[in-house]
Amino acid sequence: MKKIVIEGGHLLSGTISIGGAKNSVVALIPAALLTDGICTIKNVPNITDRDALFDIVRLLKGKISQNGKTIHIDASNLENTLINQEVSVKLRASYYFMGVLLGKYKYVEIYFPGGCNIGTRPIDLHLKGFKKLGAKVTKRGHKYIIQAEELKGNVINLDFASVGATINIMYAAVLAKGRTIIKNAAKEVEIINITEFLNNMGAKISGAGTDTITIDGVESLHGTEIAVIPDRIEAGTYMLMGALLGDNLKVEGIIPEHNQALLDKLKEMGVDYTISEHTIIINRCSNLKPVNVTTLVYPGFPTDLGQPMSVLLTQASGTSLMEETIWENRIGHYPYLQKMGANITLDGLKATIKGKTELKGTEINATDLRGGAALIVAGLIAKGTTVIHDIDYILRGYEDIINKLSNVGAKISLEEI
Ligand code: EPZ
Repeated sequence: MKKIVIEGGHLLSGTISIGGAKNSVVALIPAALLTDGICTIKNVPNITDRDALFDIVRLLKGKISQNGKTIHIDASNLENTLINQEVSVKLRASYYFMGVLLGKYKYVEIYFPGGCNIGTRPIDLHLKGFKKLGAKVTKRGHKYIIQAEELKGNVINLDFASVGATINIMYAAVLAKGRTIIKNAAKEVEIINITEFLNNMGAKISGAGTDTITIDGVESLHGTEIAVIPDRIEAGTYMLMGALLGDNLKVEGIIPEHNQALLDKLKEMGVDYTISEHTIIINRCSNLKPVNVTTLVYPGFPTDLGQPMSVLLTQASGTSLMEETIWENRIGHYPYLQKMGANITLDGLKATIKGKTELKGTEINATDLRGGAALIVAGLIAKGTTVIHDIDYILRGYEDIINKLSNVGAKISLEEI
C-alpha cells in the first residue's frame, strides 16, 4: 500500500503538460473492438483505468501493442466471452463493452461495472436504450445477459443527458439496421472525440456535441486511428492549483474552451491568467472573491471539478456555495477538509464554505478519484505535512501526478505505508 505525503506552502512554477482524457480513452479502447481490423489510438494517458481496460480487451482475445502513448488494438480475432466480475468491477467504463459487444455480436454477458462510490451509479438508461433497439436484457445477480435477434434503429429519448448511456447506445446502434436518433443526448466534448473515431471507422453519425445525435447503421466497421483529446478535468485540477500557488504556472496541451465554465468562475473570483492557443499561464490570487458554483452537464460547471473547486472556495474571503447536482454522494471529501480546518457546513449536496481559512496538514483518506484530487490540492496549500491514504483512486485518473507536481516545485512524494 502507498500513501501520498505533501509538505504544503510551496509555490508552483514551471510547466505541466496535460495528458489524454481519461473519460475519452476509457470509451475509445472498447470502441476499437467494433471493427474487424486494427485501430491506433494516440495520446493515451498512463493511468490505471487504461490497464484495467487492456485486461478486458485481452480477455476477449483482442491484441494490444503499445509504443509510448500510442496503442494498436487488433480486433480481427475476438472471442465474445463472459466479462467476469474480477475485471468488470475495476472501473465504471467496463460498461462500454455492453454496447460494443451487443452492437457487434448481438450478444454480451458482463458483470455490473465498478467505479468510484459517488452514487449508486445505475445503468437503467443504457439498458432502456438497448431494449429500444430490440435487445432483451436478463439480469442474474450482478451479471447481465443482453441479446438481440436483430438490432433496429429507433428514436431514444434519454430521461437524463447521461454521458455513458449516450455513448453506449451509439455503440449498439452503429451496426444496427436503419436510423437511431438519441434525444437529450449528453453534449460532453469526449462524445465528439468518440464520434470522430466511429466515423473514421466508417460509421455514419451526426450531431455529436448537440442534444440530438443521429446514427445510420452500416454493415461493418474497419480499423482506423484517433488521437485522445486533452483531459479537461486534469487540466482544470492543475488550473485550480495555479490559482492557489501559481508563480507563472504554465499548463500546456489544453483546449481552453473545454474549460470555459471553470475559467469564467476563476475570472469571477479575481484569478489572473493568460491564455494562448493551447496553454494557460496562471498565478496565485491572494484576494479571492467568494462565488456560488452549481455543477451541471456540459457546458455547465463540470461535476468532476466540483470537489477540487471546493478547496479553492475555502481560500476565498467570504461565503461561497458549492452545490453538486449530478452525483448523489459526491461529498466524501468534505469531512477531511473540515478535519484540516475548513469552515464548511453541509446541507445534503449543498456546501456553504466560509473563507479564508488556513488549512492544517494531517492524515486523511481519498474517498474517490476527484475527492482524492481535492485532498492533494488541500495538502499543497496546508500548513505542515499532509498524508493521504487510499491513493489508488487518484492514480486511476491522474497521469504521473507526483512527478508533474514535483517538477513545478511541490514537495510531494509517494511512500510505502
Ligand atoms: C461520466 O460518468 C464520467 N465517467 C464521470 O466522470 C462524470 O462525472 C459523468 O460522466 C458526468 O459528466 C466516465 O466517463 C468514465 P452519467 P457516467 O451517465 O457516464 C445518472 C470521473 O471522475 N444515471 O452522465 O457514468 C447517474 O446516476 C467520473 O472522471 C442514471 O440515473 O455519468 C448520475 O446521477 C466520475 N442512469 C447522472 O445520471 C443511467 O443509466 C450522470 O451520469 C446512467 C446515469
